[in-house]
Amino acid sequence: MLMKTGLSGTDVKIGSIALHNLQKRYGSATAVDDVSLSISPGEFISLLGPSGSGKTTTLMMIAGFEMPDNGQVLLDDRDITRLPPHRRELGVIFQNYALFPHMTVAENVAYPLRMRRLPKAEVEERVRRVLDQVHLGALASRYPHQMSGGQQQRVAIARALVFDPPVLLLDEPLGALDKKLREHLRNEIKTLHKEVGKTMVYVTHDQDEALAMSDRVAVMHEGRIRQVSAPQDIYRRPADLFVASFVGDVNLIPATLRSGVAHGAAGERLPAAPWTDADRDATLCVRPEHLRLDMTAADNSGGIQGRIVNMTFVGDATILEFRSDSGLQLKSKMLNIAVGTMPQIGSACVASWAASDATILTE
Ligand SMILES: Nc1ncnc2c1ncn2[C@@H]1O[C@H](COP(=O)(O)OP(=O)(O)OP(=O)(O)O)[C@@H](O)[C@H]1O
Ligand SMILES: [Mg+2]
Repeated sequence: MLMKTGLSGTDVKIGSIALHNLQKRYGSATAVDDVSLSISPGEFISLLGPSGSGKTTTLMMIAGFEMPDNGQVLLDDRDITRLPPHRRELGVIFQNYALFPHMTVAENVAYPLRMRRLPKAEVEERVRRVLDQVHLGALASRYPHQMSGGQQQRVAIARALVFDPPVLLLDEPLGALDKKLREHLRNEIKTLHKEVGKTMVYVTHDQDEALAMSDRVAVMHEGRIRQVSAPQDIYRRPADLFVASFVGDVNLIPATLRSGVAHGAAGERLPAAPWTDADRDATLCVRPEHLRLDMTAADNSGGIQGRIVNMTFVGDATILEFRSDSGLQLKSKMLNIAVGTMPQIGSACVASWAASDATILTE
């Protein structure tokens, strides 16, 4: 985590960002709608959402390339809403690298320092250090067109790091790369985050990437933040139907909550935590890996009667499709380690799950 010496002589953490009620309209369309978010110094936070959900617009308002119609951006408690980008001192990495094609790697990385008129010796020293950090020391005199996409992206990261900003803003930095390289670079970025201790705001529409990299994930939809939580909580305790369906595969099971108990379409009892509020309709969210399909109902903890209608082998697991007697389609994911117990298509069975694995949504 980055520190600076405060007025009282003690070290204070730097790199906190606060967004207060940010709003951005383009004509009659609202791209970002009342977004508030507090980001701690040194935190890795992702903005995750589908195309058009307002991720880039939010990031560009933090960077200063877009002005909000309403709301404030604070950096370490300082209002920077109206400050031009170059005076915010934030490192920005765009999806398409935006390297200067006529400059070598070293010249590209030196550019922000030359703009700041640093002495030549210091520029060289800093460029060397940051290129080593991203494992590009040997390629300093190459031009961008002589490098792979992954290498170019590392140059862009080096260029954003070189002037030592407290915060890095990354907009889908791995979007143009193939899957293997994405996974490799996401680990590198994560390692870099640990090493440099900077606050990172990472935009992506890839849920795996967001879950794997982040301290917290902010899920966006139609210009709004729907949930901000640790990856485990986003996955295990989605706040609403959008988050439940966007992040990971999920079974959505219509239920009625009556006298503290969840009931399915045929009146059967469904496993769920006891409901203490008034009776109402709800949806139970159960992840496929938590859905069990048993040939015999083991106990009276509840479940749905039906049969297996399809099975798909997906390598590490088999996806079993289940249709209830009332027509509800559910998916169960079974790891291929218990091969002997795999059921057959057409088998009658009971779908159930642990009460603690069902999230009750009542929106
Ligand atoms: N300059 C602009 N003029 C008009 N509309 C815009 C402009 N920039 C963005 N928008 C609109 O604002 C909304 C949010 O766009 P934004 O680029 O923030 O989405 P995003 O979440 O980054 O999407 P993607 O994953 O496709 O990059 C979209 O509906 C988009 O069409
Ligand atoms: Mg975008």
